[in-house]
Amino acid sequence: MKILVINGPNLNMLGVREKKIYGNFSYSDLVELIEKKGREYKMEIECYQSNVEGEIVTKIQEAYGKVDGIIINPAAYTHYSVAILDAIKAVSIPTVEVHLSNIHAREEFRKHSVTAPACVGQISGLGVSGYIMALNYFRMEKK
Ligand code: DQA
Repeated sequence: MKILVINGPNLNMLGVREKKIYGNFSYSDLVELIEKKGREYKMEIECYQSNVEGEIVTKIQEAYGKVDGIIINPAAYTHYSVAILDAIKAVSIPTVEVHLSNIHAREEFRKHSVTAPACVGQISGLGVSGYIMALNYFRMEKK
């Protein structure tokens, strides 16, 4: 099983940015954890991060026919990227949306996800564990 993990803008700054909200884990710690779990679950994992909306759209398009699942944290794009919403819909790859923080308990503008309607579900507020839960979803539901 092949899983593509996409992280959006500023998630490369994990461990530096707003630690009270996003924790001490660095982006490379996150990738290491996901890859370790992937090996344990015998999944082929690709982790991708971009600060650029169009690059994320292209990455989703390129996954068409090649991956079994996508785990995406669109970061700020969650709240306004119709382009990412459309890309997820276009490829019809089961996609789980993950947020480190609980977007429903923060500012009003973060409560709405434009991208979630194209996803099978959303995990929000459980920190880095959210990504592992999403891997578990694919392991258990998509065998
Ligand atoms: C985030 C929440 C977004 O509102 C924010 O713009 C991010 C990270 C999260 O993981 O909690 O960059 O997606």
